[in-house]
Amino acid sequence: MQTIEVKINPSKEYSYPILIGENLFDSPYMYIKQHTNAEKFLVVTNEKVYGLYGKYFEADQAAFVILPDGEEYKTMEVLSLIIDKAISLNIERKDAIIALGGGVIGDMAGFAASIYQRGIDFVQVPTTLLAQVDSSVGGKVAVNHSSGKNLIGAFYQPKLVLADTNTLNTLDDRQFKTGLAEVLKYAFIENSCSAAEKFYFLEFLEENKVQIFEKNSDTLKKLITICCKLKSSVVNQDEKEKGLRAILNFGHTYAHAIEAITNYVCYTHGEAVSIGIKLIFDLALKLELIQREYYDRAVTLLSDYKLITKLDFEVDKESFYNAMKSDKKVSSGCINFVMPVGEKDVRLINQIDKKMVLCGI
Ligand code: GLY
Repeated sequence: MQTIEVKINPSKEYSYPILIGENLFDSPYMYIKQHTNAEKFLVVTNEKVYGLYGKYFEADQAAFVILPDGEEYKTMEVLSLIIDKAISLNIERKDAIIALGGGVIGDMAGFAASIYQRGIDFVQVPTTLLAQVDSSVGGKVAVNHSSGKNLIGAFYQPKLVLADTNTLNTLDDRQFKTGLAEVLKYAFIENSCSAAEKFYFLEFLEENKVQIFEKNSDTLKKLITICCKLKSSVVNQDEKEKGLRAILNFGHTYAHAIEAITNYVCYTHGEAVSIGIKLIFDLALKLELIQREYYDRAVTLLSDYKLITKLDFEVDKESFYNAMKSDKKVSSGCINFVMPVGEKDVRLINQIDKKMVLCGI
């Protein structure tokens, strides 16, 4: 088992471990009870995940709330189902919420934990690749609004992240690839994360395609560990996205607009991200921020991992631009882009001409 410590500066109160390994579901409460003093647990999950893994979380002190599955259900209305259940079960301040599922479950359970009785403990138990490499770490929790993604939320850190890599074996191809989009993101931003170690993650992904698609257990553990170390490094320096953390939004300025204009039902988050990454590389090449050679390397990686890189319908450019402007990343009316500016290096750039921004759409 790998342990990575997230140490949010400057307060030690916000430190917590990410445990990555196989068979952690054999005794999940053994780990969970080491990190919370809760007497009761409310396990938030969806039907599919409950069917697969609910049995490992059954316990005298645990109750379940089972939500509908899908980004389109990440709403205030569905969030209130968690709160209603917590109230009906007399969940108290010393108790805890467990998020058992992917990014949507983690976001909603975490946000519910942040507001219920002004905040109770919560534990992230990510069961998808996307959640294990990205969304379960760093404390971003939120629901969507019809005007934009994650517009209502908080920074609220879990007490523990428990990532059992066995769960990746039950992911279908589409869900696995949706996680790979966030994985590739880390390869393109590695140098800007200012991590203590060098991982050469782009090279790792270039060399380990076969093992990754075969879901080789050691390779996946290594991959998740690298992503979590890179993410922790960024979050440790900038928990609340005052600066550096924005680099984790690489590809997301386009992606969030794609999700919003398609009402969150056409593309998974990762599919929108891989399209967003391709669009941002196209833009960077046009603006001459990167060399052709690096652009080709990035496009080859996206293609080798069989990720979607193009929208498959005609977009109304004005609506698309408006969706980009409703995103949280807009400040003083300017859309902030995390642009590649060199190998594995990114920088925040705004005031890019609208025509340029939309030319690849
Ligand atoms: N997924 C982006 C972040 O956690 O900041």
